[in-house]
Formats: sequence, C-alpha cells, structure tokens
Amino acid sequence: MTDVMPILGYDAIEFWVGNARQAAHYYRTAFGFNVVAYAGPETGVRDRASYVLEQGAIRFVMTAGLGPDSPIVRHQALHGDGVRDVAFSVPNAEEAHATAVSRGATSWRAPESLEDDNGKLVVASVHAYGDTIHTFVDRSNYSGAYAPGYKKTRHWLPADSTGLRLVDHVVCNVELGTMDEWADYYASILGFSQLHHFNDDQISTEYTALMSKVLWDGEGRIKLPINEPAEGLKKSQIEEYLDFYGSAGVQHMALATDDIVSTVSALRANGVRFLSTPQSYYDDLRSRLDWTKIDADIEQLAKLGILVDQDDEGYLLQIFTKAVQDRPTVFYEVIERHGSRGFGVGNFQALFEAIERDQELRGNL
Ligand code: FE2
Repeated sequence: MTDVMPILGYDAIEFWVGNARQAAHYYRTAFGFNVVAYAGPETGVRDRASYVLEQGAIRFVMTAGLGPDSPIVRHQALHGDGVRDVAFSVPNAEEAHATAVSRGATSWRAPESLEDDNGKLVVASVHAYGDTIHTFVDRSNYSGAYAPGYKKTRHWLPADSTGLRLVDHVVCNVELGTMDEWADYYASILGFSQLHHFNDDQISTEYTALMSKVLWDGEGRIKLPINEPAEGLKKSQIEEYLDFYGSAGVQHMALATDDIVSTVSALRANGVRFLSTPQSYYDDLRSRLDWTKIDADIEQLAKLGILVDQDDEGYLLQIFTKAVQDRPTVFYEVIERHGSRGFGVGNFQALFEAIERDQELRGNL
C-alpha cells in the first residue's frame, strides 16, 4: 500500500493570541519551553509578533497581531487565544497540498517557497475545522531558526525543562452532527484511518455525553481525536467549548513525557493548575486494574492527581490541566504511555465529573 500523504510528524502548533510576548513567557516559565526564535517589527515583519518555543520535539509558535485590522486580532476577538495552525512536517509540501486539494480540501495558501541565507522553506496550507488550518512544511532545505523573517532570540533566559517530549495527540471539538464529516475529511484527504471510536454510552455522565473518533496516520506520529457533543441533561463541556470558542477548534493537546511524576511535580511547582481527581477514584483503582502489570506508585499518583488506564496492550498515565486562558477552551493533557495506544476511556467518567465541577463553578452547567 502506498502512503497517499506521507507525513513525518507535527512541524509546529501555532496559536493566535492576544499578547504573544506574555504567552511566550507563560509557556517558558510554567511549561518549560525555550523561546528560540522571534519575528516582528525588529526583524522586518510589520503586522505581527511571533515567538517560537521548543521543548523536546514539541514546537509551539505564539503569534499576535499588532493592529485592529489584523486577521489575527479578529481571530482572537472571536475565539480568544487558541490554535490557528496544526502544521505537519512533510517531505514535499507542494505535493501534499496538491494531493489534499485534489481530494477535496480547500486551499488556504498555495505552495510558497520562502528563502533567506539559511536556505529554502516550502509551505502550503489547507482549511480544516472551524478557523483552523493545516500547513504542510518542508524544511529539509532550511537550516535557520524557524523560518525566513525569524531571528534567533538572545534575550530570553533558558527555561528549566519539565520533561515534555513530544506531541502525542491533538483533539478537536466539532459541532453537533459533524464528527463523521470531519472523520471523512481526515480519511479521504489525508489518508488517515480510524483507530478508535467511542460513543455516548461509553462516554457519558449525568450531564456530559460525547462521541469521539480517533483518526491516525497508521504509524502513530499523528493522532487526531474528533469530539462531538451528544445529548446530555445539561450543557456538555463540548458545547461549552463551542459556545466560548465560537466555532469548532482544538480542545486539547496531549504532550508526552517519559516521567509523568517528575513532569507533573515540576508543572505544579511552576503554578500550572490541573483538574482534581476525587480520592474515590484511587480507592477504585486498586481493584479495577491489574497492578502486576503497572509500574507506578498509587500513593504518588494520588498525591499528584495522575490518572491510570489499562488495556490489552499496556497502560498509560495521564492528567489534564485546567483551561490555560480565560475562556474555558484550550487545555493540556500530560501523558506517559507504556504500550497502551488508548486515550484513557476508563478515566473519562472520573475526568468528566471533575470538569463538570469546574463548569458548575463558572455557572455554565
Ligand atoms: Fe487526550
């Protein structure tokens, strides 16, 4: 079988935010990212300021517009701080774009070759859910800090790593009735296949029900769960997201670590706030899982609020942050996998109850 759309991995996740300098500072001090490159008026880019952050293989870009007519500023007014671009690294951006468009994607940016003294970077983008885009990036002939227009930063203090290593998955919330459409988009346009499917009798509490399909590239480099709200008694967390984001968009990114205990300890010490897990969750855990196959200290997990899930292939440890901006939209998951390719479906019940406690505090339940 030939791969219709070879993708090497995530190139970067670009956020459009209200204040990129302060967002960069937050991701540096709280999450342990190094601020490695900058583009803005000082580097000849007149309409925006962008900060490139890296930790392990994770690359985030924080971008803000500099005037009221900026599309970035309008995006921020509509959505709040959020993910604009989930960019993929590809061997040939021109081909990736042509393939995607021929299979039904709408082009946002035709292939463009960006050049400076460090070589040539080829980029091209297509529309995805909501106002989100996917940019295909070929940086095989480029050796600069990030892209033409960007300069290496010299004034940012190095960060203390929290051990975050790579992007494990990027989850989107889409409007009621559109999950299958978006699953088809990734299947037919990017050649992805379905890894999991959860329906609302697996994922539901008294208030929240959701359905989810996980699309992946078949190799595990890219995993994109798609959530759709389902009927609940009250407003589900997916609907709350859609109301506050104003459209479909990225709900959470899972960042992988090899040592979740030290990563979460560091994040907590830096002031990152996590959803709390009731003690009853840990009481149940002892009998619910096969502890002969899990190498973790349950007391330590309980102390830090880390969740555990197990399936036929192994187990995973995970925890979820609270939303990282004022609107109840984007949050993070920290994950440590041991064989399991799952997403913690066994934890969803406990997790949703925790999310709903927060939703109730906001008066949105
Ligand atoms: Fe997740």
